[in-house]
Amino acid sequence: MTPSHAHHAHHTAHVHRAVDPGAATVDLASLYAMQSGPTPPRLIRAPREVHVELDARITTWSYAPGRTTTAWGFQGAVPGPAIIAHVGDTLVAHLVNHLPEPTTIHWHGLRVPAVMDGTDAVQPLVPPGGRFEYRFALPDAGTFWYHAHANETVQIERGLYGALVVLGPDEPVFDADRVLVLDDLKVDRRGEIARTALFDRHSGREGDVLLINGQATPELTIAAGQVERWRLVNACNARYARLSLGGRPFRVIGADGGLRDAAITVTETLLPPGARVELAVGPFDDVGAAIAIESLPYKRSGMKRARRATWGALRVGPRQPSRALLPEVLATITPLITDGDLTPTRTIELGARMTLHGHDWLVNGELHHQDEPVKVGELEVWDVINDTGLDHPFHLHGFFFQVVAIDDVPTVPRAWHDTVNVVARGRVTIAFRADDRPGEWMYHCHILEHHAAGMMGHFSVVR
Ligand code: C2O
Ligand code: CU
Repeated sequence: MTPSHAHHAHHTAHVHRAVDPGAATVDLASLYAMQSGPTPPRLIRAPREVHVELDARITTWSYAPGRTTTAWGFQGAVPGPAIIAHVGDTLVAHLVNHLPEPTTIHWHGLRVPAVMDGTDAVQPLVPPGGRFEYRFALPDAGTFWYHAHANETVQIERGLYGALVVLGPDEPVFDADRVLVLDDLKVDRRGEIARTALFDRHSGREGDVLLINGQATPELTIAAGQVERWRLVNACNARYARLSLGGRPFRVIGADGGLRDAAITVTETLLPPGARVELAVGPFDDVGAAIAIESLPYKRSGMKRARRATWGALRVGPRQPSRALLPEVLATITPLITDGDLTPTRTIELGARMTLHGHDWLVNGELHHQDEPVKVGELEVWDVINDTGLDHPFHLHGFFFQVVAIDDVPTVPRAWHDTVNVVARGRVTIAFRADDRPGEWMYHCHILEHHAAGMMGHFSVVR
């Protein structure tokens, strides 16, 4: 660690030792050979190039009937265009910056080459009027998202995010496949997006207007008898969604890194900021029923009141035949730790300290911690310890991990993750193996205000 890293203000460029930045594309066969993520699907379709224009610009966003606000959106839309592609395709995204300030795009959850990760550690910020071409292969099937990775507390709040769905060659069959991007908006009395208050820096900014795909409390319809696949993304700055469908059972089928090993039936699931969950919703029998899409009270901080909140409604429409077929085994999740040895290779302490202007959020006692390098191919076991009175959603860039223990109790990995909640005073142990994508990477709390206030770490992946 260099002393200069301990005193960084946020949003400054970081200086790193030089490493091989790696190629702009990934050799998928060698990536899969490292067994560092989901098992490779057998491709049955010739890969294509998927081109998308992502013009970041100021826009007038209508988020409810008769209610508009000035927002920032890719292609002027909030969320930005949903990108749909297939495993093995190459995504070519043209960022054009028509904002009054610099920006970049981070591909949250994607195993991209380091130089394509969209952080200020790997590329200069794209200035107003500038452009940048992101180009990389899509190795994994699943629900991902992209978002601005500069001045995030403002840029993501104003709408610079979108969903990215990568389809595998043999997906389970559903009657519909929907993406639901959750967000919350804090508006002032004039209906404009409110300025960030000092208090937001402590708990993270939450808004009262709850949005699904950029619309306040929409009503969706599902045909009675049918089963839909719902891909949920939590794009909120700080709000947790303890999701419930009016108390009815639903099945969780996937997480950040694609399908789980098998479906699990629940009546609620916790979706912290940054994370994704995939559900099988239905079948319902009661035609005409309105089911709340809601979050149950969740206390993520001692200082916040836990409240139930409604995101939208699901109306049960006239019965339709179903062709949904959910196999018993959805994916093979090969455990990274087989000998029961959970000895951590590093410890990451999430902490806080009071300052004159409120709070600093720390990793191992530092703002913007510079962590040790990670060696390609080696098993990493990280103990993430929360020394604070609030939950923190811990996000690792570029690599999927398995959760191998919670509060020292070993867990069986059922899915791949890139974001995991670490409850107040709790501890989560994660394991991953870095595949051959050397360069500069980072991890951080996905409460955007905490990330901005220092709760992050930089590390290099080296050969
Ligand atoms: Cu969605 Cu640096 O994160
Ligand atoms: Cu946090």
